[in-house]
This record gives sequence, C-alpha cells and structure tokens, in this order.
Amino acid sequence: MRVAERGGRIAGTGRHLPDRVVTNAEMETIVETSDEWIRTRTGIRERRLAPEDVSAADMGAEAAKRAMCEANVSGDEIDLVLVSTATPDRLLPSTACDIQAILGTRNAAAYDFASACSGFLYGLSLAQAHIVAEQAETVLVICTEKMSSIVDWGDRRTSVLFGDGAGAAVVRRSDPGEGGILSSFMKSDGTLAELLYRPAGGARIPMDVAVLEERSHLVKMAGPEVFRSAVRSMCEAADEALRRAAMTSEDIDFMIPHQANMRIIDATAKYAGIPMEKVIVNVDRYGNMSSASVPVALDEARESGVLGQGSVVLMVAFGAGFTWAANVVRL
Ligand code: COA
Repeated sequence: MRVAERGGRIAGTGRHLPDRVVTNAEMETIVETSDEWIRTRTGIRERRLAPEDVSAADMGAEAAKRAMCEANVSGDEIDLVLVSTATPDRLLPSTACDIQAILGTRNAAAYDFASACSGFLYGLSLAQAHIVAEQAETVLVICTEKMSSIVDWGDRRTSVLFGDGAGAAVVRRSDPGEGGILSSFMKSDGTLAELLYRPAGGARIPMDVAVLEERSHLVKMAGPEVFRSAVRSMCEAADEALRRAAMTSEDIDFMIPHQANMRIIDATAKYAGIPMEKVIVNVDRYGNMSSASVPVALDEARESGVLGQGSVVLMVAFGAGFTWAANVVRL
C-alpha cells in the first residue's frame, strides 16, 4: 500500500489572528524606517500584535478549536497535540501541554518541537509518521507564534518583519481514494544557526541583568545572508517534494510558500516554475508569523474557496536552524 493511502490527510484547518493591526505608518513612529522601505524590500504593509495577556497557547488553542470544528472531531478523538512555536509561554512544561489543558484533549499525548518557520511542514511530516506507525489516528498540528515577545522593538532590521498569529490543522488517517500528504522533505543545517537566533536567555547563557541590558535574549538576524540561504533552500525543498511525489510543477494547483519576504516568494515561485497567480500570499497583511504563516495562508485559501477538495498544494518553508522543508498535499 502506498504511504499516502495509509497516511494522513488534512481534515480541517483554523487560524487565529489578533485584532490589533500595526501598519507601516505606525512602525515609522517606533523605529527609523519608512512605509516605502518596508514595502519595497519586503512586501509587508501591516502585521498583527497580540495583547500582552494573550499567550502563544491562547492563540494556538483558538486556531485548534476552529480546525477541530471544521474537521468535526471532538477533543476526546485527538491522539496527539503537536505544537510548533519559537515563543513558548514558558520553558517548562511544553506549550503543547498548556494547549492540551485548554482544549481538554484528555486522551492525547502532547509535545513541542522547534523548527522555527518550517514548523508547519515539519509538523505535517511528524503527524504523517505517527499515523503511518499506527501510534495515532487523529493529530492536531498547531503553529503559534507571539513574535512580538521576542523581537527587539528598537531594531529596525528585524522589528518591521514579524507579526503574531496562529494556524492549525487536524490530520487524520486517510482512506484509500481520499486526499493525503503525498510527499515530505525536511532538512537542517545547524552550522548556520547564528545567522538567525536568540543568543542568550536559555541554559547556555541564562537570563540575568546583563542579558536584559544587552538585549541579547531577543532575535538577531543577518538579513542578507538569511535571504540568500532562504531562496536556495526553498528551491531545493520544492524540487525534492515534487520529485518524491513523482510530480512536476504542472501538477500543482497552488503553492503556499513561507511568508518572510515577497522577494523570496517571487524567487522561489520563479525557480519552481509556478506562476504568481497560483501562489498564495499573505505577507502583506501579516508579515512573517514564523511557523504560523503557512497554515494561516492554507486556512484562508480553503475558507475563500481558492483551495477545494482535490486541490494539489505544494507548501514550502525555511527558517532558523537553519531548517527547510516542503510537502505536496492533496486536499
Ligand atoms: N527601514 C529602513 N532602512 C532599513 C531598515 C528599515 N526597517 N532595515 C534595514 N535598513 C537599512 C540598513 O541599515 C541598510 O542601510 P545601510 O546601507 O546604510 O547600512 C540598508 O537598509 C540595506 O540593508 P540590508 O540589510 O542590506 O537590506 P536588504 O535589502 O537585504 O533587506 C531584509 C533587508 C531583512 C528585508 C532582507 O535581507 C531579508 O528579507 N532577509 C531575509 C529575512 C528573513 O526572511 N528572515 C526570516 C527567515 S524565516
């Protein structure tokens, strides 16, 4: 039996976006920047900002509830809660356990994984692996990011890029003939970690007054180097996922790339041979929501009817680590 027949399919999706919109004009009042610079270099017009008392777990749980509702599954039917986040509410226990408590998925195991912006695609691969190994029938993949809590609001090179939000999918064992995860590709290169990272605040350099003063617990990024790696890696991931699905770009109805920068999206689409009218974009409205970007775009495209049952979608992402990944999915 082919893996796709025994593996998982996306049975429902959901998203949560904070109401508060921060426009580029507002960013001009926070750091020395301009709407024109941000739009032409990144494609971003605005991003969302979560209130102080709303956590990554809160946003993730809201997105998950919507995905469960759409998939018509109850909390008791969830076997596994997988959470991708670069902004866990606390370092112990996992945000997945906090979300499990909010959702009341009392039959589930729950754990976090840290693949940064590639998180949704790593999550689909993990869900697929657990289903194929017969460890789970129904898996929640939740990507939730309160990027505003780790961004240096005094650094114009990073603060304008990121936004808050959450996206989720219910992945269930598929029956023959149903849609499914047709191929997966994941890769990492830890030698490049320090091009995009938070230097301190973890076990190696614990949080103290010096860390706070130096702001070294916040995101640091070598933008142009990350840009070049992102394009190269997303192209490799798209190629590999298509090859593993025995497909070409002609077989793809839509591509959902990670939403870091419009120029990276353009370059990836061009390389993959996918015309821009088949590329789903939301970076203009939300900025880079790390792992939440792809599932939010997927949910919006399903809700608006752009994607329907049977649509073949190539999802591809890149992030800190570095990590990169792609999946071909038939909805
Ligand atoms: N507003 C105005 N000017 C800014 C600015 C801002 N928000 N941020 C940087 N600049 C300035 C820089 O200081 C620099 O000025 P200088 O030449 O006087 O030193 C100039 O703009 C060019 O900076 P540079 O970093 O070379 O710009 P760039 O064209 O590479 O664009 C990024 C910067 C961050 C938009 C781009 O490198 C990028 O998108 N990188 C990938 C980021 C990413 O995807 N990260 C997440 C991965 S998941």
